[in-house]
Amino acid sequence: MQKLIINGGKRLGGEIRIQGAKNAALPIMAASVLCGEEIVIHNCPRISDVYSAMRILTYLGCKAYFDERNTAVIRAEDISGTSVSDELMREMRSSLFFLGAVLGRAGACRITLPGGCDLGPRPIDMHLAALRKMGVSIREEYGVLDCRAENGVKGAKISLSFPSVGTTENIMLAAVLAEGVTVIQNAAREPEVADLAGFLNACGARISGAGCGRIVINGVKKLHGCEYTVMPDRIVCATYLSCTAAAGGELVAYDCRPADMESILPVFEQMGCIVHASADRIYFSADRPLRAVAPIRTMVYPGFPTDAQAVVMAALCRAKGTSVFVENIFENRFKHVGELCRMGADILVEGKVAVIEGVKRLYGAKTCAADLRGGAGLITAALSAEGTSEISDIHYIDRGYEEIEKELSSAGADIIRI
Ligand code: EPU
Repeated sequence: MQKLIINGGKRLGGEIRIQGAKNAALPIMAASVLCGEEIVIHNCPRISDVYSAMRILTYLGCKAYFDERNTAVIRAEDISGTSVSDELMREMRSSLFFLGAVLGRAGACRITLPGGCDLGPRPIDMHLAALRKMGVSIREEYGVLDCRAENGVKGAKISLSFPSVGTTENIMLAAVLAEGVTVIQNAAREPEVADLAGFLNACGARISGAGCGRIVINGVKKLHGCEYTVMPDRIVCATYLSCTAAAGGELVAYDCRPADMESILPVFEQMGCIVHASADRIYFSADRPLRAVAPIRTMVYPGFPTDAQAVVMAALCRAKGTSVFVENIFENRFKHVGELCRMGADILVEGKVAVIEGVKRLYGAKTCAADLRGGAGLITAALSAEGTSEISDIHYIDRGYEEIEKELSSAGADIIRI
């Protein structure tokens, strides 16, 4: 089993290129199933969730491989199956995108419930209710979902009770080749939703309003191939900024999109960091002791993202004063707190609220990642701790970060994988 060993207390300095966004690349890979011609995806991160998506594509009879470092090629001219095995479904939550995509392509799909990081209950009721409105009949037996659109998928008007990211994307996937018009009210406005729409439109789909609360999809007969570049990962960018804030130092994050981070960057300024952003890079400096920040409430976009909660919390462990987080999106997204406390952090969790009393120092400790972003939070804290930390179960971190130890060592961190 692999581990990360981190000797903390080294200032960071250097430049890090921000990888392509996991949460855009994964639905785009599933969307490739809808296209009858070759798809070339640039800026596709080499992370384990992307390899899981490739395994599902291969299982369905498509060809999926990396051509160059970050260019993935997908060919779905012939798909030989419409079901995904339980083993593959369990590898990640994003396996669920294949439901909308395969239904859109073939009018039938058999899956089991998806796996993914345990962040509390992650039901799929909204996905299924939306698909039913689109003429899909769903039979659930022995944990298998047998979904069929006998008369083809039909456009529908769907009003979401909550702007769920995955539900919005699954509806888009099922709707692009459907008969008629689909309207999604109270759609998720995350930039990754707009990136998926950008990809589908590049293949000939007719989607408007993605990135806003109302998305309109006019069904088309077929999609063609395209070359597309995945947007930069705003959470990975927030992670490297958190690491620099925690350890101190200067970092230039490039090939990023600061415009997508308007709820995150001001939090670093409140901590006392200097943030200069241009269209695609951030100059970041943290050379003073950090200060606590005003309460942070995780929200849907454009609010503060739940995915950045753990890494920003880890940076605040040594900030002077008291910081408060209210986690509004997931029920159980504080699993990193116990591990941060092993390193000397002073954090109290009460339901969906975490209160962080800044401490003077953190100490290296043996810790264990319990989910992707929580694991990245442990790295953030370890970089600012005195002594050596060991982080195990790093397969969670590898789901979303491309060679995180290499990026951080290139910026001066003392971190190795064993
Ligand atoms: N929800 C339901 N029913 C549903 C769907 C969602 O109750 O049918 C609830 C969820 O339980 C949760 C809330 O709605 O409480 C938000 O879930 P959402 O559907 O928006 O999230 P998701 O699509 O499962 C995506 C990201 C997550 C990110 C969330 C919130 C991808 C592949 N995943 O998940 O990313 O935290 O949106 O922004 O896009 C991560 O990258 O570490 C990660 C977990």
